[in-house]
Amino acid sequence: MESGVRAAQHLRQVLLFFVFLEGSSVLSETWSYSVAEEMETGSSIANIIKDMGVGDLAARGARVIFDNYQPYLWLELETGNLLLNEKLDREALCGTSEPCILHFQVLLENPLQFFQAELLVEDINDHSPTFPEKVIFLNISEGTSSIGAVFLLKRAQDLDVGNNSIQNYNLSTNSHFHVSIRNRGDGRKYPELVLDKGLDREEQAEFRLTLTALDGGSPPKTGTSQIRIIVLDVNDNAPEFAQALYQVQILENSPVGSLVAKVTAKDLDSGTNGEVSYTLFHSSQEMSKTFELNALSGEIRLIKTLDFETTSSYEIDLEASDGGGLSGKCSVSIQVVDVNDNYPELTISSLTSPVPENSPETEVALFRIRDRDSGENGKTVCSIQDGVPFTLDPSVGNFYRLMTEGGLDRESRAEYNITITVTDMGTPRLTTQHTITVQVSDVNDNAPAFTQTSYTLFVQENNSPALHIGTISATDSDSGSNAHITYSLLPTHDPQLALDSLISINADNGQLFALRALDYEALETFEFQVGATDQGSPVLSSQALVRVLVLDANDNVPFVLYPLQNASAPCCAGGPGRPLWVAALCLRDTILVTWWMSVARGPCPRATSMRCV
Ligand SMILES: *[C@@H]1O[C@H](CO)[C@@H](O)[C@H](O)[C@H]1NC(C)=O
Ligand SMILES: *[C@@H]1O[C@H](CO)[C@@H](O)[C@H](O)[C@H]1NC(C)=O
Ligand SMILES: *[C@@H]1O[C@H](CO)[C@@H](O)[C@H](O)[C@H]1NC(C)=O
Ligand SMILES: *[C@@H]1O[C@H](CO)[C@@H](O)[C@H](O)[C@H]1NC(C)=O
Ligand SMILES: *[C@@H]1O[C@H](CO)[C@@H](O)[C@H](O)[C@H]1NC(C)=O
Repeated sequence: MESGVRAAQHLRQVLLFFVFLEGSSVLSETWSYSVAEEMETGSSIANIIKDMGVGDLAARGARVIFDNYQPYLWLELETGNLLLNEKLDREALCGTSEPCILHFQVLLENPLQFFQAELLVEDINDHSPTFPEKVIFLNISEGTSSIGAVFLLKRAQDLDVGNNSIQNYNLSTNSHFHVSIRNRGDGRKYPELVLDKGLDREEQAEFRLTLTALDGGSPPKTGTSQIRIIVLDVNDNAPEFAQALYQVQILENSPVGSLVAKVTAKDLDSGTNGEVSYTLFHSSQEMSKTFELNALSGEIRLIKTLDFETTSSYEIDLEASDGGGLSGKCSVSIQVVDVNDNYPELTISSLTSPVPENSPETEVALFRIRDRDSGENGKTVCSIQDGVPFTLDPSVGNFYRLMTEGGLDRESRAEYNITITVTDMGTPRLTTQHTITVQVSDVNDNAPAFTQTSYTLFVQENNSPALHIGTISATDSDSGSNAHITYSLLPTHDPQLALDSLISINADNGQLFALRALDYEALETFEFQVGATDQGSPVLSSQALVRVLVLDANDNVPFVLYPLQNASAPCCAGGPGRPLWVAALCLRDTILVTWWMSVARGPCPRATSMRCV
C-alpha cells in the first residue's frame, strides 16, 4: 500500500513535468493509485485532500466517477480518503490484460474542477492452474517412437497474470518420460512430454502419470492432470511355444477322438498380433489322416486308430502363427505304446503225414511262431496236449519241431490230432491253437491170424461134386495190402492123398469145396494144411489144420456070403423098397456070416456090396 502510493507520487511528478512543458491546464494532471485485488472493502487507497490540495469537499460537491460508472471507490468527504467500495477482482475486471488500470475522475462541482486519476489493480495469486482435461489420453506405438520423441500436451491455464501465472510443469516420477517446457514467444509456457526410453508394450502397456502445473506464487499454487498413455502394440513378438518339443505316449488301442497332446504358444502382442493359430507344418498325408489339429485350441486328436506294429512313433511339426504374420515352431514326438492286440501266429513250414509206424523219433511237423506285438506282449510259449506220444522241440529262430516220441503203432491208434497251443505273455494273454492231424501209415508187422487153429469139417459121402464144405478165415490187423489175405492149400505130406483132386479153396474168401463125391467106404477122413498169406512186403503168412470127416450114407445092401443066393430065391422077405434087417459077423475085415430077415415075404434083394467096418 505504502509502496503503491509512493510509486503513484513519483509517477505524478513525472507527469507534472510533462504537463508544465506543454503549458496546458493543470487539471490534465493524472493521479495514479494502485491497489491489490481482493483488498477488504473500506480499505483506504489515497487521500485527495492531501494529494490534490483541495478542501471543503462536501461544500464543493466532490465525487468520484469511474469511466464505466461503477462505484469501485467512494470518497469520504470529511477526510478526503478514497476507500474501496467493494473487493476488486482483477481477473473479473481485466481478464488476462495487464496492467489492469481503472480510470476515474474526481469531480468538484462548485466551482467545477476535476482531476484525472487511475487505479492500478494489482494481481495476487488467487487462482490455481487448471488443465482443460482432467485426464489426457495418449496413444503411443511401441518401438516406433525413438528416444527424445516429443508429445505435445495441452497447457494449463491460470487466471492470474505475470509471476502468478504458470511458471513450471513437473511430472510424477517414472522411468520413461519427462516433461519439458517450451516458450513459444507469447510468454506462455507449453508443456511437452519427452520420451526418455523406448517403449515396450509387452513390458508395460500403460502409463498413468500426473502432470502438475505450478504458478509463480509463493507458495506456488498447482493444478494437476492425469496423463494416461496407452502403448499401442506393434507385432514385434512371434508366437512362442511353451515347449520346443512335446513328448507324449499313447496306447495303440486309444479310440478315435482321443486327445493326444495339447500345445500352446504364447504371443506377447495384443489384438490380432497376439492371436495365435496352429497348423501342421510339413505333415505327410499319413500324418494328416491320423491326427487332427485344432487350429484354435492346439489340441491334437486321433482321427484314425493306431497300429503299433505298422508305425510305432510319429514326429509332428507344428507352426503357430499370429495375425501379423509372425510364426513359431515346435515338434511333437508321439510314441505309440504297444497293446497286446495281436494273436500269436503259427505257420506250418512242413508236415509229414502219414508217419510210418514203428519208426524211431521222427519229425512230423516244422512250424514257426510269430507275435507281432513287442516286449512281453510278443513273447510266446508253445505246448501240445498231454497224453500223446509226441514232443515239441524248440529250434532256431522261433521254429519248433513236432517229433514222435518213438515208434507208433498204427494198429493201436492210426490218427492223432495234435493241438499246438501258443500263448503270449501279454495282458490279457492271447492264445492261438492249431491242430495237426497225423496219420500213422501201416507197416506189415502183423501176420494173418486164423480164427481157429484147426477146423473140422463134416461131409456126407456121395456128395455132389464142387460141394461147398466149409470156410476157413483169417484176419490181419494191418491195413491195405498188408491186410489183404490170400488163402491156399498147402502141399500135403501124405503121398496117398491126392489132395488137389479132392479139395479146392477159394483164395479170396477161404471157401473149401469137395471136388468130387467122397466115398466114405473108400476114405473116411483126411486132413491137410491151409495157408493165409497177406500181400505186404515182406509177405507174412500163417497156417491151420483142416480135418475132413466123411459121413457114411447107407449105400450098401447086405448080402449072404454063404450059401450063395440067387435072385429067384424066395428067402428074401423084403421086396424092393422093403426094409431089411441085415447082419453079418465079421472077423478081421472078413465077413464070416450074414443074417438077414425079411419082414415081408418076397424075393431077396440083390446084394450089391457088403463089407466089414
Ligand atoms: C487410442 O487407441 C484406442 C484403441 O487402442 C482408441 O479407442 C482411442 O480412441 C485412442 N485414443 C486416442 C487419443 O487416439
Ligand atoms: C517476477 O519474478 C522475477 C523473478 O523471480 C522477478 O525478478 C520480478 O521482479 C518479479 N516481478 C514482479 C512484478 O514481482
Ligand atoms: C511437482 O510439484 C509438486 C508441487 O510443488 C511437488 O509436490 C512434487 O513433488 C513435484 N514433483 C516432482 C517430480 O518434482
Ligand atoms: C481229429 O479231428 C478230425 C476233425 O475234427 C476228426 O474228424 C477226427 O475224428 C479226429 N481224430 C481223432 C483221433 O480224434
Ligand atoms: C447063383 O448065382 C451065382 C452067382 O451069381 C452063380 O454063380 C450061380 O451059377 C447061380 N446059380 C444058379 C443055379 O443059377
